Amino acid sequence: MYRLAVLVSGNGSNLQAVIDACRDGTIPATEVALVVSNVPDAYGLDRARAACIATAVVERRPGEARPAYDTRLRDVVARAAPDLVVLAGWMRILTAEFVSAFDVINLHPALPGELPGTRSIERAWHEALAGERTASGVMVHRVPDEAVDDGPVLATARVPIELDDTFESFAERMHRTEHRLLVDTIRDLATTPSRTEAPA
Ligand code: GRF
Repeated sequence: MYRLAVLVSGNGSNLQAVIDACRDGTIPATEVALVVSNVPDAYGLDRARAACIATAVVERRPGEARPAYDTRLRDVVARAAPDLVVLAGWMRILTAEFVSAFDVINLHPALPGELPGTRSIERAWHEALAGERTASGVMVHRVPDEAVDDGPVLATARVPIELDDTFESFAERMHRTEHRLLVDTIRDLATTPSRTEAPA
């Protein structure tokens, strides 16, 4: 089994797409082994519990420095022995110490080099209203260092902004695209021939 640890901070709709794809065989021989959140009441944790997946809350302690937090997080994630760590709506910047311990990928609702940080979908929408763009998109990239929403790109998908879109219809299309792209990328990584298999 190819083992995933998924890190979430909120709703977890992308987590749900990955759980469903593992269970229905869209991503073969792969399981979500652990879901971690830095937010104790993140709905993503409820989704994991409903699917009988192990969960952990790693909340930042008052005054705790980033390296100390990341060491605790690393130790929790390492116990699940993941082949891949998936940042799916994870809202903390990770230190090099954490990202160098695992193969880490991140999902970002914008195309490479565009709209890093939070509220990317809203910012794209406002740029479209101002006549500055006619499309946005989604990317999945590796996380080799501390850069925000930047790193070697694994997959992208362009999402046009239609004349009759509302913010809600555009955001809905962005989220559907995220779910598909994340599942496709994990499937590709999980089934790549370079994946090390235990000897038969
Ligand atoms: C997604 O848009 C993701 O790209 C961004 O945060 C959102 C999380 O959505 N980083 P969800 O928690 O997976 O529903």
